[in-house]
Amino acid sequence: MMSDKRITLAWTGASGAPYGLRLLECLLAADYEVYLLISSAARVVLATEHGLKLPSGPEAAQQALTAHLNCDASKLVVCGKEDWFSPVASGSAAPKKMVVCPCSAGTLASVAHGMSDNLLERAADVVLKERGQLLIVVRETPFSTLHLENMLKLSQMGVTIMPAAPGFYHQPQSIEDLVDFMVARILDHLGVEQGLVPRWGYDHRK
Ligand SMILES: Cc1cc2nc3c(=O)[nH]c(=O)nc-3n(C[C@H](O)[C@H](O)[C@H](O)COP(=O)(O)O)c2cc1C
Repeated sequence: MMSDKRITLAWTGASGAPYGLRLLECLLAADYEVYLLISSAARVVLATEHGLKLPSGPEAAQQALTAHLNCDASKLVVCGKEDWFSPVASGSAAPKKMVVCPCSAGTLASVAHGMSDNLLERAADVVLKERGQLLIVVRETPFSTLHLENMLKLSQMGVTIMPAAPGFYHQPQSIEDLVDFMVARILDHLGVEQGLVPRWGYDHRK
């Protein structure tokens, strides 16, 4: 029997690498087994926005990330772009939950059209066909009609579209506070317990 605490996390080349990193950190802290998919553009963004240069091979990238986050390496599985034998490539083994965070307009389009041209797109297609939970954290501004159509198409299939648009009512004092706002909402939707930010109507005015 496979554990329920398995999830696929995809990082793509949209701005917002800190969201992806923080989400990974929180999922691992919550004892989730995380299958991590990283697009080529995501590596560029990670280096640009966070100064973290990941080695290209999946094993080396896994080691670099576990060292960076100081986490348990056994719970993190970095998958290669064309590792078609990865569990995430098949409905018989893939986690039922997947988050694309941050999600580029390009990956949004590929997922909306079932391209399955690399493991990341295939993993999303598998979650869709298996009627699992797919959450897409899109980052672009402004949105073109094409972007909006792709989001509508996916939303109508049950995908949760969460624009990377943090609120300010928790009075953020730092970039980390803004990142945590988004990550908290994502974790809520995934059903992962979190206490990153105060909840609306409880203690946000204190
Ligand atoms: C620093 C940087 C920031 C970028 N920000 C965005 C963005 O916010 N949204 C977006 O859709 N694309 C953005 N791009 C462009 C994408 O990375 C590019 O379209 C890429 O082909 C996406 O590929 P992927 O979806 O396979 O990761 C950015 C690129 C770089 C280098």
